[in-house]
Amino acid sequence: MSSDPASRAGAILEIDLGAIVANWRLLAQKAAPAACAAVVKANAYGLGAAPVARALQAAGCRLFFVATLDEGIGLRGALGPGPEIAVFNGPLPGTTAEFAPHWLVPVLNDPGQIESWKKQPGVPAILHVDTGMSRLGLTAREFATLATELPQSGIAWRAVISHLACADSPDHPLNERQRTRFAAAARHMSGVPAGLAASSGIFLGRPYHFDLVRPGAALYGVNPQPGHPNPLRQVVRLTGKILQIREIDRGESVGYGAAHVMETAGRVATVAVGYADGWLRSLSHRGCGYIAGKRIPLLGRVSMDLVTFDVSAVDPALAHPGALVELLGQHYGVDDAATDAGTIGYEILTALGARYHRIYRDPTATNDSA
Ligand SMILES: Cc1ncc(COP(=O)(O)O)c(C=O)c1O
Repeated sequence: MSSDPASRAGAILEIDLGAIVANWRLLAQKAAPAACAAVVKANAYGLGAAPVARALQAAGCRLFFVATLDEGIGLRGALGPGPEIAVFNGPLPGTTAEFAPHWLVPVLNDPGQIESWKKQPGVPAILHVDTGMSRLGLTAREFATLATELPQSGIAWRAVISHLACADSPDHPLNERQRTRFAAAARHMSGVPAGLAASSGIFLGRPYHFDLVRPGAALYGVNPQPGHPNPLRQVVRLTGKILQIREIDRGESVGYGAAHVMETAGRVATVAVGYADGWLRSLSHRGCGYIAGKRIPLLGRVSMDLVTFDVSAVDPALAHPGALVELLGQHYGVDDAATDAGTIGYEILTALGARYHRIYRDPTATNDSA
């Protein structure tokens, strides 16, 4: 008889769907009367598009955004025919006919996508205008050329959107410039719901909300206002198993490159998580874990499947083979790991590995805080 998956896994990732729902409600309340969609691209930022979107659907979310057609088809299968699903990348050449059978709404990002969509009049689409990101969406010149014909193009415009480049820096002058440019574009699309703000944009205030907001990262607990207290709930808890404990003499090295040398004799725990699991190599020498609320520094380099921690100061009754080290959670959140790794919470989440045993905490189970 084989062991259960939690026993076999080197680490356990708990995803608190109740916290995601609570975060969506808080964002929706903040943006009201604008409608609040949910961005669940990249497998809901690594946390599982199907369970996350189902929980949000049950909480009342009616519009979901994914990045690709395949993500859209997968999500439609998970959600059934009810909610709207929009695809940020729009129809790539040769794929136009594949949206309608799955009731997917493309975001049209350039004149070519608009031209091909016009061939099926009355089918809904979202228009993306670029107001300062210089990434996707009609340029100002393209929009000026097409502005008068777009409302009469035969396309059933479901929304007009743009994306803020600097919303997490409230004082950045580009925010207001983008808002003004977007408001002008939205006026041309009279009667079409307008949406500019993602997570951080919601916190720029009412003038940025228009009719529709579309948060992603904040749903998953990433702080939308760096440098300020995070109003959102932590969503993930990651615990890794200790495989071995060893006593190491002063002057001995730990791990690849002999990159850490023990200044004093100590005890080191080897934990079954590595960069192949998304525990980024850039956390080498900088990250940490927690055992029973006590911080344990990460020693040396993160390797592919393993990471080492200094547990010299932890009661051996708590730090032993089989015991769990908290790698993400209330003490050390996604944003903390991102700071130590020199990246952003988005990357910590989307890197979370496939080898973790995943446990979804049910949003209706009130006592089940992970
Ligand atoms: C066009 C667009 N809208 C919304 C989002 C969601 O942004 P955030 O995760 O910052 O809320 C993204 C994410 O990258 C995006 O590309």
